[in-house]
Amino acid sequence: MRIIVTGGAGFIGSNFIFHMLKKYPKYRIVCLDKLTYAGNFSTLKSVMDNPNFRFVKLDICDRAGVFALFKEEKPDIVVNFAAESHVDRSIEDPGVFLQTNIIGTATLMDACRSFGIKRYHQVSTDEVYGDLPLDRPDLFFTEQTPIHTSSPYSSSKASADLLVLAYHRTYGLPVSISRCSNNYGPYHFPEKLIPLMIANALNDKPLPVYGKGENVRDWLYVEDHCKAIDLIIHKGRIGEVYNVGGHNEMKNIDIVKLICKELGKPESLITYVANRKGHDMRYAIDPTKIHNELGWLPETKFADGIKKTIQWYLDNRNWWEEIISGEYQVYYQKMYGDRK
Ligand code: NAD
Ligand code: TYD
Repeated sequence: MRIIVTGGAGFIGSNFIFHMLKKYPKYRIVCLDKLTYAGNFSTLKSVMDNPNFRFVKLDICDRAGVFALFKEEKPDIVVNFAAESHVDRSIEDPGVFLQTNIIGTATLMDACRSFGIKRYHQVSTDEVYGDLPLDRPDLFFTEQTPIHTSSPYSSSKASADLLVLAYHRTYGLPVSISRCSNNYGPYHFPEKLIPLMIANALNDKPLPVYGKGENVRDWLYVEDHCKAIDLIIHKGRIGEVYNVGGHNEMKNIDIVKLICKELGKPESLITYVANRKGHDMRYAIDPTKIHNELGWLPETKFADGIKKTIQWYLDNRNWWEEIISGEYQVYYQKMYGDRK
């Protein structure tokens, strides 16, 4: 089996590559990644010498480049993780989100149509469903929940999902889509909630909580997401959407307090800052379909996963310190400098 994994130098894509190379030693995995600010070549260093792995620096919007790579590699499966993924950045500058997340997805699928493929899998997000109210804990996102997006990020991901389903219906492209809840774990870029709070707490810096910290996210350990995608690309039905999430809803403020506790840092570091524009209140996935059809269940409990994650950030300080010492400082100043 030959698989092209796009966005494999990012958080979830890299974890997926590690999972696949370990579980399927005979598969050839080609990582296609533009290495944007979120892509980190050093993340992949443990697999660079694996003869079944190849890294190609390429933009998924580069049509000629993508077509040339498909011609050369003749992939059986394409798994598209490549995306601009941070909501706050999408609020500042939506353009690149439309380009990568929508045009890039179409470009990849055009290549799939031209060269033939067994499966194109789109890694999507629960954010395409918009949000749920805090006072209705009985409500969950199912695959039938209408798309109703809030941010430029989620709108671009929803647009891509619609294109994927349209390519299936119009051209018969063998597609599948997974819509997962918030992931956490190793190699998570430190602009996102959990790694940002771990890094700041370790540096005794303020922990910037948006609004009152009451927003709820449904957290899943990244390996469980990778296992779900592995199952879908091998056994999932063509043309189908699968929600992925582990019924692990938590308020942001509770996560930040837990991180303080685990690291032995005082809660006085917590600083309430101006809310995110259009901030989604609650995400909550109903994973019944993937459980019933494919037998998927999350394996890592949050209490264990967060400990493992914190330990990883303690053991791999070089990885994130290098990131936050560079261009990231400019971003951090812009987003948090005088945010009140
Ligand atoms: P990330 O930002 O950590 O990584 C994105 C990767 O894509 C980076 O390596 C980057 O260099 C690459 N990339 C960006 N633009 C590119 C382009 N034009 N061409 C080629 N490569 C490009 O993102 P992540 O958190 O790993 O998310 C991966 C996917 O999973 C995204 O599609 C995201 O929407 C989706 N998702 C993420 C979460 C989450 O909690 N992080 C949850 C559900 C779904
Ligand atoms: P994030 O990790 O950006 O993921 P998403 O917005 O895609 O769910 O944010 C998770 C939650 O944490 C979200 O409700 C926004 C909040 N948040 C903060 O309160 N402070 C921060 O500095 C960040 C980055 C996020």
